[in-house]
Amino acid sequence: MGEAAFVLHHQDAHPSMVLPPGLPRPWFERVSNVLHIVRQRTRGHTRSMSGPSFRWMARRGRPAAVIPSWQRQSWPLRVLRTFLGVTFLYAGVQKLLDPNFFHAGTPDYIGSQLTAFATGSPIRGVLLLAAKVPVLTGLVVAVAEICVGLGTLLGVAPLALAATGVAISVTLFLSASFHVHPYFLGSDSIYAVAWLAYLLGCVEIEQRAARSAAATSRKRNVPVYGQQRRELLRAGLLGVGTLFVAGVAAGWPKKAAQASRGPSTLPSASPSRPKGSPSPSPTKVTGTPVASLDSIAVGQAVGFTGPGSEPAVLVRLGQNKVVAFSRVCPHAGCLVGYDSTAELLVCPCHGAEFDPAKDAEPVAGPTATPLPPIAVAIDKATGEVVLPQ
Ligand code: FES
Repeated sequence: MGEAAFVLHHQDAHPSMVLPPGLPRPWFERVSNVLHIVRQRTRGHTRSMSGPSFRWMARRGRPAAVIPSWQRQSWPLRVLRTFLGVTFLYAGVQKLLDPNFFHAGTPDYIGSQLTAFATGSPIRGVLLLAAKVPVLTGLVVAVAEICVGLGTLLGVAPLALAATGVAISVTLFLSASFHVHPYFLGSDSIYAVAWLAYLLGCVEIEQRAARSAAATSRKRNVPVYGQQRRELLRAGLLGVGTLFVAGVAAGWPKKAAQASRGPSTLPSASPSRPKGSPSPSPTKVTGTPVASLDSIAVGQAVGFTGPGSEPAVLVRLGQNKVVAFSRVCPHAGCLVGYDSTAELLVCPCHGAEFDPAKDAEPVAGPTATPLPPIAVAIDKATGEVVLPQ
């Protein structure tokens, strides 16, 4: 089998191949011939999905179904598919890599986020229900995002996954982004529309393919069982791939990420007063203890659960001065953290900053609304900061 085996069709022949018989060919001509054939075949790929090259790939077990799934889409759909697939895959992995996502008492804790998102959301009941099983909810969301992202990139069940993408984005719009004003500052509404556009594009392609398949099967009576088996196999592989990616992300070492959280992580409030601390003057205030005053240094803050079960923050402004606010950012419902260097409450989502010394008035960012205040008092008899009754 020499190089003549490459010359399968007349159009594959390069002019330099036409040499008088018996003459030796220089090496660069041989290379040029091979490159010419590769070019011809590459052009063939874009013209037809059923050409000899694809049959060749299928015979050797190459992922022929993934490549045609990209080839039969227009460029606008490919751009959407790449962006949505990569972003959802990344979003799912990032949740599993975040050391705080499943850790109660941290700003990114899924339980606190669900409770915060429930405030004023039209799907409040669903969110409060999900907040009862926060870890399971977080896990389901992360794995679903990985599955949708990976499956979209691989072209598995495109309609079902695009519809799931729409559903996830609409849910996030009704919860995480529901308070964002104007709406276009929240990304979830944009994702919902992008997934919908992608879904409609896929429906169009499927309809066209179904029409042409029906025409072909009318002519040749082609069975579809093999195709269904392939779809099942690909769905199974997607499941295995999703679990593999989720497993790797969940098991990835997270210490470095935790250390880089910076000042926004709030320590949890502890209501008990440390032993040996001096007793304050006996002025009794009845209420629910939040934290021991001595456990918070002046200029520091602790997180606690507010009277309506919302995440809240207690800041010690002076020797005998404390203030408390809801941590739910009035802009879009993210949870603010405390920057002890700037002595400001800072929202990680769009950069709003609130000054606790000035009734949490915003000093920067996209909102003009202060953080909701929470009434607290110092029980001088016990040295506790309490929520007065
Ligand atoms: S949610 Fe946008 S600044 Fe806080």
